[in-house]
Amino acid sequence: MVILKLPEEIERLKTSNRIVAEILAELKDRVKPGVTTLELDELSEALSRKSRVVPAFKGYHGYPFALCTSVNGEVVHGMPSDRPLVSGDILSLDFGVIYKGYVGDAAITVPVGTVSDTAERLMKVTKEGLYCGIEQAIPGNRLGDISAAVQQHVEAAGFSVVRDYVGHGIGRNMHEDPQIPNYGVRGRGILLRPGMVFAIEPMVNEGNYEVKVLPNGWTVVTEDGKLSAHFEHSVAITENGPEILSQMQ
Ligand code: MF3
Ligand code: CO
Repeated sequence: MVILKLPEEIERLKTSNRIVAEILAELKDRVKPGVTTLELDELSEALSRKSRVVPAFKGYHGYPFALCTSVNGEVVHGMPSDRPLVSGDILSLDFGVIYKGYVGDAAITVPVGTVSDTAERLMKVTKEGLYCGIEQAIPGNRLGDISAAVQQHVEAAGFSVVRDYVGHGIGRNMHEDPQIPNYGVRGRGILLRPGMVFAIEPMVNEGNYEVKVLPNGWTVVTEDGKLSAHFEHSVAITENGPEILSQMQ
């Protein structure tokens, strides 16, 4: 069941997602060779305390950290570690908070030092794919319009869309209906209505779309070991079109 949000609920989601965006921006500024992802995780917790919000991921189905840090061939749910980042890595930072009972959720992928042309292009295409999907988040469209727009952009660039993990509705719970695949068919799926709030989050692989989960039970990696990128925004569907709640102003 897709839960429509009232204007006052959207206001809370705006606040939670704005805080997520601000914290992601601070984390991004810290990323450089030599920094560890555990340090970034600790910073995300400190910044959450400062903003008086609760990290949404920590304890979620037993996840032990506030932040997901997915490096290179890690797709999503990478766990912070004491391995220092090195120039050439790409790092996905996925973060969420709860503010007055409402969840914010967003992700970015950033370069560490200097990265390959392929890595740059993968990040650029993934971010563009997210925005192609967001453009379709308008009343009267269907869910498949979002999915197909992401897929088309990504595949036209020669990359592939992860199938096993998808975006989601968001509100009082981090994961609400509907599921939002990054592949699909235009004109199919539920009708989009004002008051729906979606976390749209393409995960894009350099090689094929197959992924597997590491023995730690969390970290999703590409099966072929090639790079993967991930961008996510939480977006409200309004009468006037999509409103990105997790955008840095
Ligand atoms: N942004 C991720 C998602 O949308 C965060 C969930 S990871 C977990 O699914 F650690 F919280 F489980
Ligand atoms: Co999400």
